Amino acid sequence: MKHLTSLLDLTPDELLQVLNRAEELKQELRRGHRPQLFPGRVLVQLFEKPSLRTRNSFEAAMIHLGGAGIFQTTAEAGLNGRESLSDVAKVISSFADIITMRTFSQQLIEDFARYSSCPVINGLSDDRHPCQALTDLLTIREHRGQLSGQHLVFVGDGNNVSMSLALAAAMTGMQLTLAAPAGFEFTAQFMSLLTSRYPQHRTAVVHDPVQAVRTADIIYTDVWASMGQEADAERRRRAFAGFQVNAALMQAAPAAALFMHDLPAKRGLEVTDDVMDSPRSIVFDQAENRLHLAKGLFAWLLDHSR
Ligand code: CP
Ligand code: NVA
Repeated sequence: MKHLTSLLDLTPDELLQVLNRAEELKQELRRGHRPQLFPGRVLVQLFEKPSLRTRNSFEAAMIHLGGAGIFQTTAEAGLNGRESLSDVAKVISSFADIITMRTFSQQLIEDFARYSSCPVINGLSDDRHPCQALTDLLTIREHRGQLSGQHLVFVGDGNNVSMSLALAAAMTGMQLTLAAPAGFEFTAQFMSLLTSRYPQHRTAVVHDPVQAVRTADIIYTDVWASMGQEADAERRRRAFAGFQVNAALMQAAPAAALFMHDLPAKRGLEVTDDVMDSPRSIVFDQAENRLHLAKGLFAWLLDHSR
């Protein structure tokens, strides 16, 4: 049984197969075709955090492919202690063909997947956001023609999004620089995992965003306080004050460098309106690609789970 709890569940070759499947289905849709690959199939989504893009792109993807989606919060589903995790996973996976989950704990998704009889996809945890990273690879490949050799500079927090991008970069020959304030870098534990799985990775962690973007092909940022960190937002706002992606920072980068953000954005904090809405911003291509990536991922996972 194949799951996607983290990008480490895929080999680099499998990762490219998912991207290619997504690209094929995107082109099909451009031609007006919605191949009915999965009539009657059921997507169950179990979320404990809010979502616009992830939840709706997954459900739309399943509808495009001929199936349908059911949504429940993790608490409604019984993961608040009403039942054991293994009982919930066994029961719900007997109704579903694919399960997506959004949780605080990465471990919860990995434990759930062990008891599930159908593929489980991580739709964001505190530590990983693999579907966002896969979507970002698809978007970068479309805009740049290739992945290998591209330099992605992530200006912000060493969080779920940047960690998954670092794994994605290591798997595809990209260079990734995290420009973060002291105390918000990748953890030593993450760096040793990355190095043990992909010793050839080209990941650097620096503290000077202006210097970092000088050789960037892509400048990427995300919120300074992730879901669950609201109580720490003020402290983070102060710590990240010099890490805003604004016109001056874009000016320090090569003229061809593009701007990316997984969204939702806090306009005026990590990024200014003029950057978000500039011709160099590809944030809405990223958001649209969540749909195409979800279709490619469902198709690939179900093909590999028969
Ligand atoms: N980028 C992303 O995952 O957005 P949502 O939180 O709206 O799903
Ligand atoms: N780092 C953000 C990503 C949201 C899609 C969060 O976890 O809230």
